[in-house]
Amino acid sequence: MSTITVTTALIIVLFSLLLAAESQTFSTSLPPSSLRLGRQKLTRLHFFFHDVVGGPNATAIRVASSPITNTSATGFGNVVIMDNLLTVGPESNSTRVGRAQGMYASADLNNMSFMMVNNYVFDEEKFNGSTLSILGRNPIMSPVRELTVVGGSGVFRFARGYAEARTVFLNETNGDAIVEYDVYVLHY
Ligand SMILES: *[C@@H]1O[C@H](CO)[C@@H](O)[C@H](O)[C@H]1NC(C)=O
Ligand SMILES: *[C@@H]1O[C@H](CO)[C@@H](O)[C@H](O)[C@H]1NC(C)=O
Ligand SMILES: *[C@@H]1O[C@H](CO)[C@@H](O)[C@H](O)[C@H]1NC(C)=O
Ligand SMILES: *[C@@H]1O[C@H](CO)[C@@H](O)[C@H](O)[C@H]1NC(C)=O
Ligand SMILES: *[C@@H]1O[C@H](CO)[C@@H](O)[C@H](O)[C@H]1NC(C)=O
Ligand SMILES: *[C@@H]1O[C@H](CO)[C@@H](O)[C@H](O)[C@H]1NC(C)=O
Repeated sequence: MSTITVTTALIIVLFSLLLAAESQTFSTSLPPSSLRLGRQKLTRLHFFFHDVVGGPNATAIRVASSPITNTSATGFGNVVIMDNLLTVGPESNSTRVGRAQGMYASADLNNMSFMMVNNYVFDEEKFNGSTLSILGRNPIMSPVRELTVVGGSGVFRFARGYAEARTVFLNETNGDAIVEYDVYVLHY
């Protein structure tokens, strides 16, 4: 065997040992630069959220309730799972930009307010498949509600920020609503 072959073999063995050791390491301190994150960006997203609760094509459906939901003034304990359409304009046939998938639950005994726990998944080219996780208190009767961007995936890794939600249409007969969202998100 030539010296080069032996050296190559040794390097391979050393590397496998290193990899084996690495796979058994639970925690490692890394410089933030190791992820090549680049500069932090601020992105504003503007879209409309279609909460369709009535009719055959509902995208937000009640899955659970509490013993007092029907008698409580705020529907306390009502839990709804949604897969709501997000569009660029207020009409439901306007260009689709993604879906809001998650749940909301009536969580205030006195004032109508929902706890929102949602992943917003986008399909517009640059953001295709990227998600924002948005959590917050949503007092739906207030003209403007602020929700928290707690994180994200894809282009939104390390995201933080906030969303402002404004109801622009409410069908009082069946509860369908269209909500305008302004999201300000810091990410890399
Ligand atoms: C429900 O969706 C179907 C299929 O997209 C459509 O034909 C129908 O008009 C919709 N119904 C309502 C009430 O929107
Ligand atoms: C509350 O109302 C809903 C729909 O009106 C009904 O399906 C449900 O059974 C009621 N729940 C209780 C605990 O009465
Ligand atoms: C969307 O629907 C409205 C009526 O509901 C119609 O006037 C408009 O032409 C539709 N737009 C598109 C892009 O289909
Ligand atoms: C709840 O409603 C009451 C009466 O409408 C109001 O005075 C109070 O400020 C509200 N509380 C919150 C936290 O919104
Ligand atoms: C988004 O990604 C999906 C699957 O990864 C792909 O099928 C689709 O064409 C993409 N859409 C856009 C607008 O890039
Ligand atoms: C509100 O909902 C009712 C019941 O589903 C429906 O008949 C009516 O057309 C809706 N109104 C609007 C403005 O969408």
